Amino acid sequence: WVHMVTAQTPTNIAVIKYWGKRDETLILPVNDSISVTLDPDHLCTITTVAVSPSFDRDRMWLNGKEISLSGGRFQSCLREIRSRASDVEDEENGIKIAKKDWEKLHLHIASYNNFPTAAGLASSAAGLACLVFSLAKLMNVKEDQSKLSAIARQGSGSACRSLYGGFVKWIMGKDEDGRDSLAVQLADEKHWDDLVIIIAVVSSRQKETSSTTGMRETVETSLLLKHRAKEIVPKRILKMEEAIKNRDFTSFAQLTCADSNQFHAVCLDTSPPIFYMNDTSHRIISIVEKWNRSEGTPQVAYTFDAGPNAVMIARDRKAATLLLQRLLFYFPPNSDTDLNNYIVGDKSI
Ligand code: DP6
Repeated sequence: WVHMVTAQTPTNIAVIKYWGKRDETLILPVNDSISVTLDPDHLCTITTVAVSPSFDRDRMWLNGKEISLSGGRFQSCLREIRSRASDVEDEENGIKIAKKDWEKLHLHIASYNNFPTAAGLASSAAGLACLVFSLAKLMNVKEDQSKLSAIARQGSGSACRSLYGGFVKWIMGKDEDGRDSLAVQLADEKHWDDLVIIIAVVSSRQKETSSTTGMRETVETSLLLKHRAKEIVPKRILKMEEAIKNRDFTSFAQLTCADSNQFHAVCLDTSPPIFYMNDTSHRIISIVEKWNRSEGTPQVAYTFDAGPNAVMIARDRKAATLLLQRLLFYFPPNSDTDLNNYIVGDKSI
């Protein structure tokens, strides 16, 4: 017999960024962060997990290619889920797995991303969240989403925020064992459904410095990060929560853009400096800033993760249409820039 489960998990985009760990093994951050979860049809991971007595070892395929499972992060997630497994009974298919059997059974995992892996589009977030969620379903784990988020966190920090739709906060927590470092939902997917997200894929190449290495070097060398984590982010988190609650786009856009820019400033303050944005990213920032200023009130917020791709959040459909027209004007198809795709989606899960 084979018992299997398939799950689909969207990625999330931080509007107040996570950058820097206080514990690298448990993945505990130096500050809280807030994100918006995308619509699952646009950027998502689909994972199928299967268990069968005929499997002789754990194996995993990512986008059709077999990958190694020896990594510590994957192993921690698997250990945490396995330790919470329960009996599974599927009478229809004649499947009966006792709690104690999970220790000896092996897994096959197949995962697909419908977007570029490791190009700064938070593929690890969707991937690890989906893995934890599907394994938890397969093994009949009876924990709530927040507890599962603390497990996904140990796979990749940003993954803990993909367990919920809408707006999500990752609370950094205080405990040394990380049990209070988990995600909570601030507002569900219906709360602010005017927003439209547009992603301009500036480059789908793999980033040069992974988030994990980048943030380690920042923690070791940047004084600006210490100031950001202690003095700036705690106040910004409160303001962002207010903006989301009141659907105050002006405040939301100011905070989102400022936090993205400060995150990239912190990368520049790292020794040696880390450059995630390129000339096209900088041009996009100028275009949005100029347009927002000429309108008097912000129409679009931009944010960039650990890569050059732009994530833009328009206040409504009209602003999104105008933004697309502008982008097409400045970056016409077949022009010499490498801007090659716009993904339009709404934020809801
Ligand atoms: C810039 O979650 O990929 O996207 O915890 O080391 O796996 P690890 O890092 P990761 O970092 C994401 C950083 C970011 C900001 C964010 O998503 O908050």
